[in-house]
Amino acid sequence: MNFQNKNVVVTGANGGMGQVITKRFLEEGAKVAALDLHVDEVEKWKNEYGDQLEVISANLTEEIEVREAVEKATEFLGPISILVNTLGIAQPATPIDEVEVADWDRLLAVNTTSLFLINKEVVKGMKEQRAGVITNVASIAAERPRPGLNAYVTSKGGALAFTKALAIELAEYKIRVNAINPGPSDTSMLGKFSPEGGDVDQVKEDTFKKSVPLGELVTPEDIAEAAMYLSSDGARMVTGSVLNVDGGRGL
Ligand SMILES: NC(=O)c1ccc[n+]([C@@H]2O[C@H](COP(=O)([O-])OP(=O)(O)OC[C@H]3O[C@@H](n4cnc5c(N)ncnc54)[C@H](O)[C@@H]3O)[C@@H](O)[C@H]2O)c1
Repeated sequence: MNFQNKNVVVTGANGGMGQVITKRFLEEGAKVAALDLHVDEVEKWKNEYGDQLEVISANLTEEIEVREAVEKATEFLGPISILVNTLGIAQPATPIDEVEVADWDRLLAVNTTSLFLINKEVVKGMKEQRAGVITNVASIAAERPRPGLNAYVTSKGGALAFTKALAIELAEYKIRVNAINPGPSDTSMLGKFSPEGGDVDQVKEDTFKKSVPLGELVTPEDIAEAAMYLSSDGARMVTGSVLNVDGGRGL
């Protein structure tokens, strides 16, 4: 894989998976714009990666903020060649009759509508270049749900359907669009799927780890590996695909 001269946008860059993906692209020589609502961790890398890294704080559910963030990213990077979307939020397991509309709307806004907004802005430049690669991180929960994650599962199902819709629409521009379905991954998000007040460590061990046939939680590095592959020229004929990185959780 060679990412020298590649201009990359990573969203959710301050998160568990986003940080590792951002760092991998930087180490492979790409220029990266790191977008997130919170940027405290990625900010710390500015000294080490000076000319290669731009950090942009934005709420990516807001159309204006998305537009400004992509403009700023393009000013720094030049034409964007690769987009990896990892932003997302969890849903504490909640019976459907107790789910508030506001929580439902928020899950869909962050996990699905934000993908529409960011893809829309980035695709404009990619179409001009007649080149580009987009990877949206969804979840294996969209294909094999867990009880109580009703809004989350719906939002990730939307992310998968949207990915395929764009893949067919953008193929004529040579823009590839794929998704990754992580299984339970060892980031701070995992604990947030427990019912409110639940014992996070116990749920991680007893529920999530045991649900993975390969017997381990997925790591952010596993997801980064998949993101690098899908973004690389090695995957030049891969579009509209969903890569499960889940230790067999979807089986
Ligand atoms: N951790 C898991 O077990 C797991 C499993 C399957 C799928 N996923 C998905 O993988 C992706 C990455 O998850 P993670 O584990 O790294 O989570 P994380 O919570 O560590 O990272 C998510 C990032 O998204 C950012 N974000 C949230 N709302 C935002 C907004 N409105 N605007 C901009 N940024 C925003 C957060 O600030 C955070 O940095 C998510 O889409 C998640 O749904 C995670």
